[in-house]
Amino acid sequence: MTDPTNPLRTNDYQSGFGNEFATEALPGALPVGRNSPQRAPYGLYAEQISGTAFTAPRHANRRSWLYRIRPAALHGKFSALAHPSFHNVFGDGPVTPEQLRWSPLPMPAAPADFIDGLYTMAGNGGPEAGTGAGIHVYAANQDMAGRYFYDADGELLIVPQQGRLRIATEMGVLEVEPQEIALIPRGIRFSVSLPDGPARGYVCENFGAMLKLPDLGPIGSNGLASPRDFLAPAAAYEDREGRFELVAKFQGGLWRADIGHSPLDVVAWHGNYTPCKYDLRRFNTIGSISYDHPDPSIFLVLHSPSDSAGVSNLDFVIFPPRWLVAQDTFRPPWFHRNIASEFMGLVHGAYDAKAEGFVPGGASLHNAMSGHGPDAATFEKASKADLSKPDVIQDTMAFMFETRQVLRPTRQALDAPHRQADYQLCWQGLARHFDPGRRG
Ligand code: FE2
Repeated sequence: MTDPTNPLRTNDYQSGFGNEFATEALPGALPVGRNSPQRAPYGLYAEQISGTAFTAPRHANRRSWLYRIRPAALHGKFSALAHPSFHNVFGDGPVTPEQLRWSPLPMPAAPADFIDGLYTMAGNGGPEAGTGAGIHVYAANQDMAGRYFYDADGELLIVPQQGRLRIATEMGVLEVEPQEIALIPRGIRFSVSLPDGPARGYVCENFGAMLKLPDLGPIGSNGLASPRDFLAPAAAYEDREGRFELVAKFQGGLWRADIGHSPLDVVAWHGNYTPCKYDLRRFNTIGSISYDHPDPSIFLVLHSPSDSAGVSNLDFVIFPPRWLVAQDTFRPPWFHRNIASEFMGLVHGAYDAKAEGFVPGGASLHNAMSGHGPDAATFEKASKADLSKPDVIQDTMAFMFETRQVLRPTRQALDAPHRQADYQLCWQGLARHFDPGRRG
């Protein structure tokens, strides 16, 4: 038996992305040779959760079998639950092409758990369309005490920026610190506690195809993120009864139901549909050793493909510590415009394309074809830099949620006091250097 005062103590992990795992918290809890025996061991119920269509090709098929104290069907009636800042209403008015930037979301003044503290910044598509993504931030100061959540609308990619998260899930416990990420598949129930107290970070809600590791093409069989570094939890369970709350996100809105037991009561499970975590510091970063930069797709950690070959519904890209050695090259990220739309955040340290204003916990949004790049101070410095030495970029971890469709900022994000109204000033100091009489 687990100790009900200290449930889900395990933080053992199994490694591999999309692997078929098998794990049990009690010896012999996992049936052998069949998924749903007439009577499962220990009086457990057998239940399947499918994250892909039953007939999805084998390499893309994701499902798990859970052996649990009670089935997921057992809870009270759902009723709508109001939430002031977490939703999928991605701006119903005109969308500005202006470059946007925000300071960190302030910590809440009142008690707020992980769900209370979610705040929607932008998004596209939606759960009904089954494409696009919602982009949220969170600032929380309370554990989800007796409260459990699942998102039927999308897979959650959680990027902590301040404070660890202890995410107890149906499959086991994920402990995630800043510079690590957690992936919670659609429908998986979980509860978040905050071992370090107040916590802040980013959440991408992926409505499209499940995130996967990219193909590596000419890079070869190694490089970027390695499947073995994605850690899935070992089985652990709560055997708790009481007056608890189950919160569901379904078709853009929140719903609540009473539940008389912890839904994290899975004693054993097997399959390949599971939460996992990944340490971004394990990313194998690749760049130019001659001149110029590769496109930032070289920093791709995970992507959600769309129906068009080579075009992602969502890319998760990081800008980790790295050496810049390219010769006769402007070394910071160059000025550019893209067909894609880019939401950036900073988890740790400083970002090499901006001298100031983009701080850990902050965010920026550069939508399709909106010009952006280094600020004036960074341009002037890098244009005169000594290229005989490498630039060793340390103490940094920036990331980007990049989407195929335009990211529509929410009304609350546009009106937020922590939006930096003067963001465009960072480029206004870019001096005219053109001189038709001076070549080179
Ligand atoms: Fe960009």
